[in-house]
Order: sequence, then C-alpha cells, then structure tokens
Amino acid sequence: MQKRGRNFCHAGLQIDQRGPICLYEGQAHRIYWLGADNASAFRFNVYLILDHDEGIIIDPGSRDFFQEIFQKVSQVCDPSQIKALSLCHQDPDVAGSIKDWLAFNPEIAIITSERTNVLLPHYGVGNYRFYNIVDKPVWRFESGRKLRFIEAPFLHFSGAYATYDETSGFLFSGDIWAALDTDRMLVVEDFDYHITLMDLFHIDYMACNRAAVGFAKRLDDYEIEAILPQHGSIIPSPFVSRAVDYLMDLQCGLDLVYPDL
Ligand SMILES: [Fe+2]
Ligand SMILES: [Fe+2]
Repeated sequence: MQKRGRNFCHAGLQIDQRGPICLYEGQAHRIYWLGADNASAFRFNVYLILDHDEGIIIDPGSRDFFQEIFQKVSQVCDPSQIKALSLCHQDPDVAGSIKDWLAFNPEIAIITSERTNVLLPHYGVGNYRFYNIVDKPVWRFESGRKLRFIEAPFLHFSGAYATYDETSGFLFSGDIWAALDTDRMLVVEDFDYHITLMDLFHIDYMACNRAAVGFAKRLDDYEIEAILPQHGSIIPSPFVSRAVDYLMDLQCGLDLVYPDL
C-alpha cells in the first residue's frame, strides 16, 4: 500500500467541541470533524466533506445530537448545500438523525446499501432519494472528484461499507477501526495503546477474522492517508499499515464464541 503526503492538518489537534475542526483543506475541497459532545465511550464522530458548494455528511449521528451537528454544519456552509448523507449502516448512533435532515430538506440523497435501506423506514421517514452504493460504487461530485464506496460485509452489519475520498486519501471506515475511550485524542498518537481501545469494540462487534481479512484485502489498491472511524480517534498515515495488519490478525466474534468449530 503506497502512501503520499497530502494536506491532513492533524498535528497536535485536540478535541474541541465548540465548533467544526478542519482536517483537510485542498482546492475547494475541505473535510471537517463535527464531533458530538457525548461523554460516553460510545460517542461518535461525524464528518463533513465540502467540495465547492456540495456537502456530504458521513454518518450524521443520533437524533439527540441533530441540533448540535446542524449548528456546526452552519458554521462552515449553508446547510442547504448538504446534498447527501452517507449511512454506513442503520445503527441509531449513525443514522438516527435521518428524519431531522430529511425534514429540513427532503431532496437530500441517502447514500447507503440496500440492506441498510430496507431498515431506514423504521426511523419514521417517508420517501427519499436512495443512492445505492452496491449499484453505484462511485459518487461523482459536480467538480468531477470522486468518492468510492467499499463494501465491508459483516463488519459489523451485513450491508456495511466504507467510503474513500480520492482527493484527500481519507478512508471513512464507520465502525471498522472504531475504538472505545472516555478520554480520546482527535488523532492517535500511541498505536500500541490504541489497539487495546479497538479491541474493546472489535472483539464483541465484528463477525469473524474472515470478514476482517476479506475487507483488508479490498484496500490493496487504495492510497490511504488517514482512517476516520465513527468512534474513537483518527488513525493518521504513519499507523495505516499497522491498522490494516490489525484487521488481518483480528480474532473476534464467532472466532471466540465457537473456537473449536
Ligand atoms: Fe454499529
Ligand atoms: Fe457505531
């Protein structure tokens, strides 16, 4: 896996809940961490990609935090510029605010997998524009820049996927590489310690080693500058190959429940 230096402005970034934190700034292409001010270890990350005037929110988060996230979006763009929400799966910490976003603008597209899409009506949403990542694994911004969707079956949901931003090299990984921590940094500094935090999530939630290895192998052709999970700290370039190795070696879920089968 090759890596090249890009504009990941992560040096010394601390968590700051007062507003969005810019993680990447290139030519009319910006990426923000929007956080969510939740004290639990399961607190979640929300990310905003802004390409020219076209905004996409990655995993917009739970209903309880809609106002906070909407407020943070408003600090960097007009929320009417949000064209789509990407939902890596249907869990409430990922997708609960879908109803509020669609109430704000029914034209917002919902990017997700078919398996997630069939469950979203249970959030009380009516018709919406469904963008199926299985049929259309590339999102083209109006500028021509691309997001690529990489299916990640059974990590942890059958229809889970990750989103790769070609411009920044950022991989938005959803629950993959999630870590549980009540005192996290925005960016990982000690990867050995971080492994213990990822174990707290992966051992119980991820299906099995085969699922992890299968997904890791799908990343061979991608130059990954940083991994941006839905829980826990961002994994910067120096630790990306170790993070992929972590998936290759992971013993989790059914590996542990049925060790003798
Ligand atoms: Fe989840
Ligand atoms: Fe999650």
